[in-house]
This record gives sequence, structure tokens and C-alpha cells, in this order.
Amino acid sequence: MPQRDTKPFIIEQLKEGRFDFAAIFGNDHPVELEIGIGKGRFLINEAMRRADTNFIGIEWASRYYRMAADRAAGRHLVNIRFLRDDAAHTVNVNLPDASLSALHIYFPDPWPKTKHNKRRLIQAPFVAQAARVLRDGARVLLATDHEDYAQQMEREFSDSRDFTLASRLIGPDAPEGITNWEQKFRKEGRTMFKFEFLRKVR
Ligand SMILES: C[S@@+](CC[C@H](N)C(=O)[O-])C[C@H]1O[C@@H](n2cnc3c(N)ncnc32)[C@H](O)[C@@H]1O
Repeated sequence: MPQRDTKPFIIEQLKEGRFDFAAIFGNDHPVELEIGIGKGRFLINEAMRRADTNFIGIEWASRYYRMAADRAAGRHLVNIRFLRDDAAHTVNVNLPDASLSALHIYFPDPWPKTKHNKRRLIQAPFVAQAARVLRDGARVLLATDHEDYAQQMEREFSDSRDFTLASRLIGPDAPEGITNWEQKFRKEGRTMFKFEFLRKVR
């Protein structure tokens, strides 16, 4: 259970309507979103490293989301907020058009059984919504250890007329910060697949 006051770090779920990021953060700095933050290691490190950027983390598991908010509170960060929701709902319903400067999705649940593949987050409707909420030139950073999901990620974003592939990496090197799962997978020597796409200019 959290030891600190995590309320200032929480964005309440919104069934309908769009978030007002300027009101939430009290400034108009660029906003980056991470979906499925786990314990929040990547996003908290980024918020500490880049004070002029605002960060939002969405996490479905309440235990993890509370843990991440507690960690942010312990570091007195002013540029990070957390939301407990289904990421697809948040992106589809709550995010304003052209409101994000980057989207981070690291090791999303792969739903490996064929009959469960339809539950994967990264599918054509999600990619269309990502195109709506990202600013021109915004970055999408993706990672997975699951080869079939890696192929699906690359295919869905490459098939979209709104994105262009900027980099494709297979192996352990992380171009940016490292998540908890990446750390675990590195120790296990697993192959990892990483992609960076850019939102084309409208
Ligand atoms: C495999 S973990 C990876 C966590 C973190 N990205 C990392 O690399 O350490 C996937 C995370 O995504 C969360 N998650 C899965 N589906 C979600 C959804 N629809 N909305 C929000 N979070 C979700 C899970 O609860 C879990 O914490």
C-alpha cells in the first residue's frame, strides 16, 4: 500500500470527454504517454531526466499503478501523472486530437494463443486512433519479446498511411530507457524486437 500522498499524481478515469492536459499539468509542455507502465520504472526515470516534458502512464493493474504513483510521490515529481484504465478506452475516448509528442508501448501483453490474438492492443483501429492523438512528427516506440506480435506491430504501423518506420532493432540494445520487463528479459538472454515509427505530417 502507498506510504505517501499519491492523489496529486492520479488522473481520475473519465468515461466520456477529453482530458485538458494544460489544466492537468499547469503548463503547455509536450506530453508523452506510456501504455502499460508496470511498476513505472521507465516513465519515472524519463520524468526525472526531462523536466520540460510531461508524462502520463496508463496501467490497468491497480497494484502496479499505485506503486508507480507512490514512487513518483517519493521523488516529488511535478511532470508525471498516472491513470488506471483500459488503455484502448483512454486513447479512443479521452485523448484530444494531436495532443501527444510520443507514445511508448513496451512489452504489451502478447496474448500468444491464436484464439486470444484479437485481444492484442496493437491492431488497425488502435493505430488509427494513435494517428489521431499524435502530433505531426511524434514518435511511437514499441518493444516486445514475442516474435509474432513483433511482426503484427510492424505490419499494422507500416500499413498505415499515417506512419513511417524510423528504426527497427532486433537484439538487446535499448535505444532509450529500460523497463522492468526488459531488464528481466536481458538477464534471460531473450531476443527483443524494437521499432520506432514517426507520425507523418498531416
Ligand atoms: C508485460 S507488462 C510490461 C510492463 C512494462 N511496460 C515493462 O516493460 O516493464 C504489461 C503491462 O501492461 C498492463 N496492461 C495490459 N493491458 C492493458 C490495458 N488494456 N490497459 C492498460 N494497461 C494494460 C499490464 O497490467 C502490465 O502491467
